[in-house]
Amino acid sequence: MATQVLSTTKRAVTLSYDGVTTHLPLIEGSEGEVGLDLEKLRSTTGLITLDPGFGNTGSCTSAITFIDGERGILRYRGYPIEELAARSTFLEVAWLLLYGQLPTAVELARFETDVRHHTMLHENFGRFFDALPKDAHPMPVCAAAIGALATFYQEPETERAIQETTVRLIAKMPTIAACSYKHSIGQPFIYPQNHLDYASNFLHMMFATPCEEYVADPVLARAIDLLLILHADHEQNCSTSTVRMVGSSRANLFASISAGIGALWGPLHGGANQQVIEMLERIAIEEGTADRFIAKAKDRNDTTRLMGFGHRVYKSYDPRAAILKRACADVIKRVGVESQLLEIAMRLEEVALRDDYFVSRKLYPNVDFYSGVIYKALGIPENMFTVMFTLGRLPGWIAQWMEMRNDPEFRIARPRQIYTGPKQRAFVPIEKRA
Ligand code: CMC
Repeated sequence: MATQVLSTTKRAVTLSYDGVTTHLPLIEGSEGEVGLDLEKLRSTTGLITLDPGFGNTGSCTSAITFIDGERGILRYRGYPIEELAARSTFLEVAWLLLYGQLPTAVELARFETDVRHHTMLHENFGRFFDALPKDAHPMPVCAAAIGALATFYQEPETERAIQETTVRLIAKMPTIAACSYKHSIGQPFIYPQNHLDYASNFLHMMFATPCEEYVADPVLARAIDLLLILHADHEQNCSTSTVRMVGSSRANLFASISAGIGALWGPLHGGANQQVIEMLERIAIEEGTADRFIAKAKDRNDTTRLMGFGHRVYKSYDPRAAILKRACADVIKRVGVESQLLEIAMRLEEVALRDDYFVSRKLYPNVDFYSGVIYKALGIPENMFTVMFTLGRLPGWIAQWMEMRNDPEFRIARPRQIYTGPKQRAFVPIEKRA
């Protein structure tokens, strides 16, 4: 496990309140980020902090992912995302996130073998999927299936059991995702093939049928692997914070990951990739021009947003979007389709990046802006886009969950609030209520 560089600086912030002066220590991370340690704030001053959306609140210390949103930097365990995207595989990155170091050849081979041998689902899952409506969105299906896995593996939570759960989750997630798709189109489930690599196996389970052979194109499998790498972790975003929050009650990994999938489903988070493609298709059909859509996105009286644009942390180009923009062109060339959607996306980006509304608010393309165009070219259906994000984010969620559990300062997450409701009042009997 990588060591965490964390120091309490000699500097402190002095807070004067109601005639009492308190010194609040500063904490400095390994990249020089400085935070105000408020642990003793309430006990010494009676105050709490209020920070809706947690824009200024650090919920934990973490040695997993570093983001500098101003400079467009993303690193997993210190390695730049650009290098990992160019030189790693998804399972190698998963290991890195989980255990803090790049694996040796032996460690990676063992991990790949372990994952390969846990890809099958219990046969009872067939009945589980059968019980769901045909048009069920695959995100709640995946959340429910991961939650249900907890009922199959109920052993006490030892270190070894957590490692096994980790492998099971990473191995079974693509199977669950593919089953949820096959269920929605009424095709039989396709069993995983142990000789295939992670991404090819997923494509096989998605697109093979018992009637004919399916051989995954290695270029397309590599595109999937790349997408998974780019989504693998992103520090304390909404779904990861959810996984930590749920896990902080000592809920097991299955329950915590299932909750994370629920959080990721939302259109402001992982659901944005589906919304982006729907937006591009709407523009292609209705609006005609990117410029008209941009005008709507800027209009305060219109709730339209330019989906795939803007980010809470990145205030410059999201480095993942830059990598995906390049990959997009490669995939589209390989599949040999004309992509009107890619053209519209590039036109939207061009217009937005010259427009003062987006420039002044530092709104740039985020990871979801180009990922949908690639998924579409790969033949992944739109309602599966967020599931692809889930496949990628899984090792990050697990790594964050494990880091939280191993943190000596671990406590259940329990934010406070400023109450704004009525003061105490007398109960009114029903016959006297207006
Ligand atoms: N289109 C138009 N205006 C926008 C957009 C957008 N996509 N994003 C932000 N703004 C405006 C917003 O109206 C506000 O303007 P004003 O200051 O005049 O009120 C300003 O920019 C700041 O926006 P905010 O909502 O306060 O920013 P936030 O940090 O709370 O939200 C966000 C971040 C990602 C939710 C938001 O940018 C958004 O809704 N983007 C579209 C959805 C999207 O692409 N989500 C994927 C995020 S990346 C993948 C992931 O992490 O899951």
